[in-house]
Amino acid sequence: MSSGRTIVVGITGGIAAYKAVNVVRAFVLRGDSVHVVATPAALRFVGKPTLEAISRNPVHTDLYEGVAEVRHVAIGQSADLIVVAPATANTIAKLAAGLADDLLGNAILASTAPLVIAPAMHTEMWNNAATVANVATLRSRGVIVVGPGVGQLTGSDTGAGRMEEPDTIVAAALVALDAADLSVGRRSDLAGKHVVITAGGTREPLDPVRFLGNRSSGKQGVALAQAALARGARVTLISANLEVAAPASADVRLVGTALELQAAVTDAAAGADAVIMAAAVADYRPAAVRADKIKKDDTGDTLLLELIRNPDILAGLAAAGQPGQVLIGFAAETEPDADRLLALGRTKMARKGCDFLVLNRVGWTEGFASDRNEITVLDRSGDIVCEASGTKMSVAGRILDLIA
Ligand code: CTP
Repeated sequence: MSSGRTIVVGITGGIAAYKAVNVVRAFVLRGDSVHVVATPAALRFVGKPTLEAISRNPVHTDLYEGVAEVRHVAIGQSADLIVVAPATANTIAKLAAGLADDLLGNAILASTAPLVIAPAMHTEMWNNAATVANVATLRSRGVIVVGPGVGQLTGSDTGAGRMEEPDTIVAAALVALDAADLSVGRRSDLAGKHVVITAGGTREPLDPVRFLGNRSSGKQGVALAQAALARGARVTLISANLEVAAPASADVRLVGTALELQAAVTDAAAGADAVIMAAAVADYRPAAVRADKIKKDDTGDTLLLELIRNPDILAGLAAAGQPGQVLIGFAAETEPDADRLLALGRTKMARKGCDFLVLNRVGWTEGFASDRNEITVLDRSGDIVCEASGTKMSVAGRILDLIA
């Protein structure tokens, strides 16, 4: 599924150009439309056919090709993001000076998109006062500089100057894209829509000082709210014990327990265009909430808690079935095997009856509190309609694409 974004990957002449192939590949696998602009020097290190096969698009090099279509301007204008990897000392100097003596320089000058560069050079060149000043100039203009890392260089020497790994470059680029989407709000495809999002984790009190809860931080739900607001939606955020700040422009309703969340979301969902149940809802609550603190002297060495089932809120919303409303549920599972995880998701989808189910793996070290997420989205018939991994903000964007 396409994310609908156009990424220009500039490749300049350094040995690390061969690693740029993996940067291109990562964007293509995310569903981005990728256009490679390679300098002639870059093509001495990596072949044009490789870059064309991996990017699935023609690779442009020459400023004087495609002049009739004003290609040097068109490439820059169409870009949602430009990534230069590797960025040589020479390229960094040209960017700092605003030179446009090749296609890449022209495309960058003609663009207002975020620019991410991944320098790669020998340590001496990186530490040279000219390079230090050029990099500082670029940073002061908002260019995002990823790396360089410290490690083995092309020869037998080691030091600062090694191009960052492709995964790190892509992750930094996605953060830059998210930030640009939020600040510019370029996409307004949810304008006029009312989106209700539940986020966080419910807590079921046992007594005035204790509760049964879960480890959901609310980061994914808040990212959904931020992304929906940036795309023009009116957002009601049902906030269950969030560990992160709720966006100021959302209509925030605070809830504690599953029953409170049910009341709030049922009320907000009336007439909403979409409801996203990202909150982790307690399946059980204590049969009785004690008015006073439970004391060990009264309970002894073991304490048996009697719990009763909470209603399945998502299934209830699906059964109420408001026409035209898109209902999205989440399924957090600890199953390590990918096939069995998918099977669990399909069973849960059948039980819940929502339009889409976002499946993600959670565990002691996965999912919760992290800034990243990896999801598979199923439709009503259990077919996979989207697979995404990345920052919770980029994943949020992919989920909202389903509504938009
Ligand atoms: N959910 C809900 N009401 C509940 C429990 C969960 O609305 N009482 C919603 C969650 O917000 C989520 C989806 O249902 O969107 C799946 O939640 P999950 O905890 O993965 O599944 P459960 O229904 O609790 O099923 P199980 O415990 O068997 O995994």
